[in-house]
Amino acid sequence: MLLIKLDATDSTNAYLKDLLVKQNPPDGTVVQADCQKKGRGQLGREWISDPGKNLTISILKRFDQLKASDQFAISISTSLAIVEVLKRYEVPDIRVKWPNDILSGKQKLCGILVENIVKGAYLKAAVIGIGLNVNQDQFPPGLKATSISLQIGKELPLENVLKDLTGALERQINKFLSGPVENAQVSYEEMLYGKGERMLFSTPLGDSFSGVIQGIDTIGRLVVKRDSGTEDTYGLNEIRMVL
Ligand code: BTN
Repeated sequence: MLLIKLDATDSTNAYLKDLLVKQNPPDGTVVQADCQKKGRGQLGREWISDPGKNLTISILKRFDQLKASDQFAISISTSLAIVEVLKRYEVPDIRVKWPNDILSGKQKLCGILVENIVKGAYLKAAVIGIGLNVNQDQFPPGLKATSISLQIGKELPLENVLKDLTGALERQINKFLSGPVENAQVSYEEMLYGKGERMLFSTPLGDSFSGVIQGIDTIGRLVVKRDSGTEDTYGLNEIRMVL
């Protein structure tokens, strides 16, 4: 595995995407930064992390003949890999909040930002960005966030967590590539926060509605039975769950 370790960069995702254009980094290349000056989150948000305390990494996965419609399976596999590692560290009450926030209880422990490189009908590569709170012991008030160390009461060496995470990601992606997509769907649904429960959702237009989460479909869209009685599916960025 090629590990590029940086003291600081704007965003490890941006760094790796730039590298992909300029050079030919191998599958599995990892970019890790102690400090991100413009860490990217979902929906154009910023990702803020205490320098040197947490994992802020981007991993390159290259694919051959993977259908573009399988994009979400890569982010499902990433969520499942993180869950696998957190279980090993005995982090309590792990859940995945759709689409791919990892929670302990109701507090966010990890964010994932996958940026896909699609050519025609195929997904050629994915830059998998992971911000995992490992040893940070304080978060701004009102930010429902936590870290592994706050949850298990001890700090962990970042290099060990990185090694565990890259191994788990490799396993989960290979499992998805070699089996039916329904396997990943079922494993994801087992961890899905709010499944079978009535939850509140908001839309980018500022509306809100409630409904019972049924699960996800085979391309990772959330299936919700709305209070109005209709069962609807929602893609990435179409709705957010209100915690
Ligand atoms: C989110 O929950 O909004 C996604 C956060 C993803 C943050 C990670 S940190 C490493 C990688 N580089 C970035 O700029 N973002 C991702």
